[in-house]
Amino acid sequence: MMDLFSEIEEPEREELKRLRKELEEANYKYYVLNMPTLSDREFDEKMHRLQALEAQFPDMFDPKSPTQHVGSDLGKKGFEQVKHKYPMLSLANSYSREEIEDWVRKLPSNAEIVCELKFDGLSISLWYEHGILVKALTRGDGVQGDDVIANIKTIPSIPWRIERDDIPDFFELRGEVLLPWERFEALNKEREEQEEPLFANPRNAASGTLKLQDPKEVARRGLEAYLYYMLGDNLPGTTHFERLETAKQWGFHISDAIKVCKNVDEVMAYIAYWDTERKNLPVATDGIVLKVNNLAQQEELGFTAKTPRWAIAYKFPAEKQLTLLKEITYQVGRTGVVTPVANLEPVQLSGTIVQRATLHNEDFIKSLDIRPGDRVWVEKGGEIIPKIVGRADRNDEMSATPSLNDGMMYSFPDVCPECGTPLVRVEGEAAWRCPNEAGCPPQIKGKIEHFVSRKAMNIDGLGEETIDLFYQKGLLKNIADIYDLKLEDIAAQERLGEKSAQNMLTGIEASKQVPWARVLFALGIRMVGETTAKKIARVYNNIDTLQWATAEQLCAIEDVGPQIAENIVAYFNDMRNLEILERLRQAGLQFEGEAAEEPQSDKLAGMSIVISGTFAHHSRDEYKAMIEANGGKNVGSVSKKTSFILAGENMGPEKRKKAEDLGIPLKTEEEFLEMIQ
Ligand code: IVH
Repeated sequence: MMDLFSEIEEPEREELKRLRKELEEANYKYYVLNMPTLSDREFDEKMHRLQALEAQFPDMFDPKSPTQHVGSDLGKKGFEQVKHKYPMLSLANSYSREEIEDWVRKLPSNAEIVCELKFDGLSISLWYEHGILVKALTRGDGVQGDDVIANIKTIPSIPWRIERDDIPDFFELRGEVLLPWERFEALNKEREEQEEPLFANPRNAASGTLKLQDPKEVARRGLEAYLYYMLGDNLPGTTHFERLETAKQWGFHISDAIKVCKNVDEVMAYIAYWDTERKNLPVATDGIVLKVNNLAQQEELGFTAKTPRWAIAYKFPAEKQLTLLKEITYQVGRTGVVTPVANLEPVQLSGTIVQRATLHNEDFIKSLDIRPGDRVWVEKGGEIIPKIVGRADRNDEMSATPSLNDGMMYSFPDVCPECGTPLVRVEGEAAWRCPNEAGCPPQIKGKIEHFVSRKAMNIDGLGEETIDLFYQKGLLKNIADIYDLKLEDIAAQERLGEKSAQNMLTGIEASKQVPWARVLFALGIRMVGETTAKKIARVYNNIDTLQWATAEQLCAIEDVGPQIAENIVAYFNDMRNLEILERLRQAGLQFEGEAAEEPQSDKLAGMSIVISGTFAHHSRDEYKAMIEANGGKNVGSVSKKTSFILAGENMGPEKRKKAEDLGIPLKTEEEFLEMIQ
């Protein structure tokens, strides 16, 4: 009888499981990827059906079911640490034919060698159970990594599910997560506009992206992945090459640049070909990986403690070129920093033609004694801006061009190349700066560009060229002028018709609703980036209180050091800024924010709490906010007045000792969360 019942129930139980999967995916695609796959109506119908089935089978309750949470919760929690099924090792490096020959000599004489590109990103391990992607682990320390599956699912080429019946119950695919060059450059351009630190290369950018707790932002940045290693039991094939072919058939993104070689000559030919051709690839590569093809031979060779014996990396030499330095010019940035720029005889580097490269600052030029007419080494090692890294010996044959100003010492200009104002050099800084903030054209235009940028006032239609044009015509001399622009002034300009003029005015009007924190960021006070502006605005919720704050008071704000505090004070001490601010106020900008949030409870009233270590559930900032929201005070150092320490992993040994000496209790994050529940 029982059996008969379960047989009848079985299809409905299956339907319940299927609906959970379907709704989970739909939520993810809707909330994270911004790509709805179901109509609202379909979604609701499926959700109701799932609720009905869950009511029918209470034994199948699952707190993770889509009926138990809202889709927008997705991806908010921290990463789970998971132990790797097989340790994630690295590869031994080689740099020459000789080193490759040494390695080959230790292999069985008939060993075939698979050559692959070495992708320069971050390794990832994908776990597939019954064809479903269940985990995506970073390398971590090689033994355990973070499960970043929510971020990995934003990569379109990674299948969430393999629907075939010829796949083993479990298999793992390893590969590399990368940010393609194009995406990397766009991201850095955006960060430059926002005065956020630039990523040095696509690998760092991919790493920063994969760590984000915001899959929507990850999706926007556009990661990519190439897979190169399949592991597991009962996998088809006897060679590595066959396995990758199989993985390709199953729908995985496998590079086409894979070649089975019989000897070192063939390997060297592959290397020579790809050393040039890789410059046309959409992603960064830094070498070649050589792997023994036969899996039985691989097993025989085994591993050392850190690397497999059956594989080795060959690293490409860094991309450097020698070229003629024709002239040194100077570029003035939005904050007045004057950067020396090398104007070069054009050279081909990493797939692009380079004719300009940074010389960083005066000290750099002097330390290498670089002068126009020298032959210099230029490198584009993943960085967005090519840089000069050295100079050829002046007596070298390569350096036959006589120095243009032979014998003359180089000297940095003492006046601004744009406005003629004498430059100043801040103690301890390498940069020379033009102090004429209000009158130096690139500084004026740069400030306006920053003000209208997306994360600041977000005024569409006022791009770099338009700002330049309006500046030339005398329509824009500072940020306040934006709010005096008239339809007829704008429409009268070449290239701009009435319609785009109208759009621009709509954007300007809309910017009057931009909240206080972003307005503060938009003002372009030196070193006050987006995050710092938010933190300041949280403490000073209107411009009047901020204006009268002293450097000391400002330093009490998280992330605000003496230099930033000085910059803020100096900004408000400048009459010209005050005039501009007054005009912006008249225009109706938001110079006031929400009042600081009232505590949600007084559970921690009167308590001084120290936060120490790293946490799994929330960031330190979040814990700080929670302490304050519950009436407590977050303090930096342990004293006898400390009520308790919110202690995470790896708490500093000094704090731990002090706490012990003073008898201050430690609370784990779980205990803390319970306290404020
Ligand atoms: S195979 C046990 N193949 O390079 C060997 N690795 O320096 C597993 N990498 O950690 C690695 N491209 O992140 C392999 N075609 C490729 C690769 C590759 C890039 C990375 C990988 C590895 C690192 C070693």
